Amino acid sequence: MSHRVCPWWVGYFLASPLRRLVHNPTTILRPFVSEGMTVVEPGPGMGFFTMELARLVGRPGRVVAIDVQPKMLMELRRRAGKARLLDRIDARQGPGDGMGLDDLKGQADFVLAFAVVHELPGIERFFAEVSTVLKPGRRLLLAEPHFQVSAREFAATLQIADQNGFLVDSRPAIQWTRSAVLVRV
Ligand SMILES: C[S@@+](CC[C@H](N)C(=O)[O-])C[C@H]1O[C@@H](n2cnc3c(N)ncnc32)[C@H](O)[C@@H]1O
Repeated sequence: MSHRVCPWWVGYFLASPLRRLVHNPTTILRPFVSEGMTVVEPGPGMGFFTMELARLVGRPGRVVAIDVQPKMLMELRRRAGKARLLDRIDARQGPGDGMGLDDLKGQADFVLAFAVVHELPGIERFFAEVSTVLKPGRRLLLAEPHFQVSAREFAATLQIADQNGFLVDSRPAIQWTRSAVLVRV
């Protein structure tokens, strides 16, 4: 896979309201997220999904969004402030070679990894790290863009997930993606 980080300015397109015609965040996320949850979102970009995650976890919940690009995080925080959701979003800059999630061990109820895993330098490390933060029995929604990640590459990613303690629970149909819901055993 490419491991090329998407340019920061692409973040504006990804966070455009027009994208809702293809990816409705409420429809995609509501089956997984409820009030009070702690949700981790690696690679949030400018927060297209983060805002809906924050609405769904409500005031008692929190969303930890980790991106490697400061410009993505700056715009995410701006949008969250405007939507009055910043109080429940912890937007962090990640170290790049990992997610820097040591303080969240065993605390996450749900992880969303949307269009990010193919950009990471180490997929094994990603799943190993996520398996330490996710509570047993809880789910990770993995979605990769189908025009950037082939069926074969996605199958290889699922195999790495399996080796790190994740089972495939379902394969949701999300437009323009190859997706899987993984359960941390
Ligand atoms: C294609 S964008 C997807 C953004 C968002 N998930 C969405 O679907 O709109 C990928 C995001 O992952 C971030 N990213 C890439 N490598 C990363 C890393 N090593 N750690 C954290 N974030 C990373 C990029 O900066 C970018 O914001």
